[in-house]
Order: sequence, then C-alpha cells, then structure tokens
Amino acid sequence: MPSPFLVFEVFTLFPEVFGPYLASSILQRARQRGLVEARLHNIRDWTYDKHHITDDEPYGGGGGMVMKPEPIFAAVEAVLGAPPACPVILLTPQGRLFTQDLARELAYGEETEQRPTPGAGPAPARRLGLICGRYEGIDERVHQHLVTQELSIGDYVITGGELAALVVIDAVSRWIPGVLGDPEGVVDDSHASGLLEYPHYTRPPEFRGWGVPEILLSGDHGRIARWRREQSLRRTWQRRPDLLERARLSEADLKLLEKIKSETHEE
Ligand code: ADE
Repeated sequence: MPSPFLVFEVFTLFPEVFGPYLASSILQRARQRGLVEARLHNIRDWTYDKHHITDDEPYGGGGGMVMKPEPIFAAVEAVLGAPPACPVILLTPQGRLFTQDLARELAYGEETEQRPTPGAGPAPARRLGLICGRYEGIDERVHQHLVTQELSIGDYVITGGELAALVVIDAVSRWIPGVLGDPEGVVDDSHASGLLEYPHYTRPPEFRGWGVPEILLSGDHGRIARWRREQSLRRTWQRRPDLLERARLSEADLKLLEKIKSETHEE
C-alpha cells in the first residue's frame, strides 16, 4: 500500500468515539486506499500515577476540572517528536474559526493554492497533530508551548474536541486528490468558491406535484451552468451575504448579482 498522503495524529481521552465514523463511507475508502490515515492516541496512556489521572482542580478555585499538562506533552512529544516537526492543532471554542479555505490549507501545507498533481509521484506523507480538549479547559502551558494553532468549528460549545477533530479530519480529507469519487466534487462544494451551492434535483421529474426546473431537463449544458451559477449567487445573497465580500467573482457574476439585488429591492 502506498504511504498515506496525510496522517492525522489524534490525541484524545476517548479514542473509541472515532471508530464508527472513520470506518464509514468516503473516509473508510480513503483510508483503505492509503490516501489518509488517522492514528488515535489515548492521552491516558501517558499517565504514570496509580489512578491514571489526566485532570485536576483549577489553581485559584472555581468549578470544573482542568486537563493536566504532563500527559498531553508526553503523548504529543512521544508521537511527534520534541519539539514536534508538524502542526499541532488544539480543538477549542477559543480557536480561529475553521473554514473551507483553512481545510484546503491544512490538506496541502502552508498557503498552497495549488492542488498536488495526481500521479506526480509519491509526496512524503504530511502529519497533522490534533489535540481534543475535555473538561473545563486545558492547562495554559499546553496552549503556549505545545500547540501551533487553535481551531474552533463554530460559535458554540460542545462537550469535547472529539467531534470537532472529526469535522476537521473529514473536511481536510475531502481536499486530498483521489478521496472523492468525483475529483471536482470538492471544488463544487458549498463554500469552496466562496458561494453556497445551487439546488440539486434527481428523478422523478415530478414528485407530489412538485416539478423540476425545466432548464435542468433541457440538456443545454451552457444554460444549465449559467442557471446554477445564478442560483448560487442568489442563495448566497439571500442566506449568507457576508460571504460575498470574500468570494471570487467574475465580471459576469457581478452583473448577475446586481440583477438579483435589484429584483430583491423591487419585491
Ligand atoms: N470543543 C468544545 N467546543 C468546541 C468548538 N466549538 N470547536 C472546537 N472544539 C471545541
């Protein structure tokens, strides 16, 4: 089997929650083909006291428990080296917001716009460390002296970083050439071009009296592409106008957008 293109080294207190998701669908296939790998490391395996303690009370008082620094440093350094030679990402609601652009950057390495060419020979496997936090927080020395990047998957708090790490693994893996059956899939995805996706339809052509837009049945690929682009722009303008400021728009897109905006004002 070829060496994996991207290896996620995951540090967690709950490795068992990853199994079923990683063993399903696209990620399972990608792992079987040696394109990505996720290695799970139980932080508790790096505790050396009788009770394998990974958390403790916060200095200064207050509720909740704090994850101790020693097992986290020991686990990460044992697996990734001291100091680690790859990005070490902490999943935390205090992190930078994880976006599709960031997913692509993590898949290809620093600020690379180019996708690696499939068949261009084996690229050395890249590794990404992912630390999943639990409890009230993690000792600040982990943030300051071990972690290179902090990521949040959204402005809400979930029970631990495990779900967030799965979100990152999934979104990053989709950018690895060969992971998606349709190589253009990731480029068409909502957010990849900075816009939301157009509406999709499949058979039957009529369901409970609801039809399919005539144009999609026309076989005219040029008109269909233009219709889809307009739908993307319309949706983005209606649902996420904030995205339009950063989207990559052509002259034709800008004209269409003007039309959409003027229609909305007339309504
Ligand atoms: N851990 C708890 N909440 C989180 C969030 N929103 N993103 C990443 N990690 C988290």
